[in-house]
Amino acid sequence: MMKERTFVLVKPDGVCKRLIGQLIKRIEDEGFKIVALKMVKPDKSEIEKFYQPHKGRAFFPGLVKFMLTSPCVAMVVEGENTVQKVRELIGERVPAEASKGSIRGDFGSDGRRNIVHGSDSLESVKREINCFFSSDEIFSYDEDDWLNSEPG
Ligand code: TYD
Ligand code: MG
Repeated sequence: MMKERTFVLVKPDGVCKRLIGQLIKRIEDEGFKIVALKMVKPDKSEIEKFYQPHKGRAFFPGLVKFMLTSPCVAMVVEGENTVQKVRELIGERVPAEASKGSIRGDFGSDGRRNIVHGSDSLESVKREINCFFSSDEIFSYDEDDWLNSEPG
């Protein structure tokens, strides 16, 4: 099995609409493993750095403003083909165009307030993880690790 990591960020609307659990449930039900997780409140320059590939686009200032409205939840997800699979779970950017059953299709409000971000390539994964996590915040464990203990 080829392990691949992706970066996921629950945006302010996802946090405020209490969808952190929904998202995590869908990721875990897919068989993926969460190897890093935290609530974050990036400041303006951190958000601008994260969305740097979109700098200069007309929507950029509005996007930054939205991302400043509440804390976000950052995570690193590991499994097979996670970049593509998590993008499928999340759905297309514009909720009205996203598949029913995708996070954005089910819960998104519009093409900006669309609940969650997922990396689009391995290059993005590396850059985006580095925006939010240091290496000692990313964990390595196996699903049967807990069995190395005695029943209580
Ligand atoms: P994009 O990379 O096109 O979408 P995705 O999140 O699916 O990778 O855009 C990144 C984010 O920028 C998008 O989730 C919301 C915001 N955005 C807007 O607010 N307005 C827009 O017109 C576009 C294209 C993006
Ligand atoms: Mg993108």
